[in-house]
Amino acid sequence: MSLLEKLEAAQRGQDVLATLGVNAIGATIDVAGSATEGEIDGRRVVLAGTNNYLGLTFAPECMSAAIEATRSHGTGTTGSRLANGTYTAHAALEDELCAFLQARSAIVFTTGYVANVGTISTLAGPGDVIVLDADSHASIYEGAKLSGAEVYRFRHNDPADLEKRLRRLGDRASRTLVIVEGLYSMLGDVSPLREICEVKDRYGAYLLLDDAHSFGTMGTNGRGLAEAENVEDAVDFITGTFSKSLGSVGGYCASRRHDINPLRSQIRAYMFTASSTPSVIASTRAALKLIGQRPELRTRLWRNAARVHGGLKRIGFELGADASPVIATIMDSPQQAADAWQMLLDAGVYVNLVVPPGAPKNMSILRCSLSAAHTPEQIDHIVEAYALVAENLMGRPKAVASAGL
Ligand SMILES: Cc1ncc(COP(=O)(O)O)c(C=O)c1O
Repeated sequence: MSLLEKLEAAQRGQDVLATLGVNAIGATIDVAGSATEGEIDGRRVVLAGTNNYLGLTFAPECMSAAIEATRSHGTGTTGSRLANGTYTAHAALEDELCAFLQARSAIVFTTGYVANVGTISTLAGPGDVIVLDADSHASIYEGAKLSGAEVYRFRHNDPADLEKRLRRLGDRASRTLVIVEGLYSMLGDVSPLREICEVKDRYGAYLLLDDAHSFGTMGTNGRGLAEAENVEDAVDFITGTFSKSLGSVGGYCASRRHDINPLRSQIRAYMFTASSTPSVIASTRAALKLIGQRPELRTRLWRNAARVHGGLKRIGFELGADASPVIATIMDSPQQAADAWQMLLDAGVYVNLVVPPGAPKNMSILRCSLSAAHTPEQIDHIVEAYALVAENLMGRPKAVASAGL
């Protein structure tokens, strides 16, 4: 297939999505007026598909830090840290991440995607093995592919299947990097991290945890799933993003067990791309401080998650997992999911539409992500909108649909 034929094929794929009658590639948010409210197509909506778990995008501390940093240091760094130099604030953020995660070393990247691609492709190489969870994020797959290592998948969240793969590797298990996520972003299910750690320890393998969705949302101090499961010392590398709980953009890799600083001169995605802007670093530092100071944000987030999860369960939706900050409703078909998505939008609630090929196991999903900043009224509004979908699209009786609200 020629280059341009590929473009035409991609367009045909998009046309198929367009036949669902909605803009499935993503809505345009005209105004994001707060962490939980915006305007789409001239309509005010509750934002429930943003991963803004702690609602910090509008925290006054984060906004003023970003504005102040722009005033004092300008809008951009205009180059990589290796070429142009490190700003004091980049190094300060790395120190603060180390202190927060109780890590030995940490490296900041321009995005979480880049953190995964760069770290994974550099840690593992030809002759090594990567064994990753089948439902891993695209950036994990890309990093694995780029590494030149042999790559095997194990069944999603299945430590026994991981064990089977490590056993088959024999001596090579000790040259293996196992990769899992914490909270999985599509279905909202959580990795059985304790068992995964036990398995990889038995075989002498290394473990990289992508904690993109659990950082700030899980663990007594918000240090993520490894803290919640009390296995922080067993995890070799943690990667994550600033684009969710920290409310900005960027990524990191940190380690309690190893000094990862030498990777700075090896990771091409660190060496040959511009470093984060002063405003991004400043707001991220302010958000990190708030996560440490305000554990009630996590309590509020989980309370909101439990209320929506309970409401949708009572209505009778098939849900992706137990209550978590990501709540997926599994729909019967892409068309039903698209119609439901549009109906929610018309009712003033924005969630994410996920249909094949972008969804795990070819499911059609409405993905709702909760925030600590959602008010009780907004939570009611979200559940009521889903009840409307159940009543009008799925033939559920109203009495059942609105039970317990
Ligand atoms: C599990 C996971 N890893 C990595 C990323 C990439 O993060 P970023 O948005 O910072 O590139 C995401 C983002 O959606 C993610 O869900």
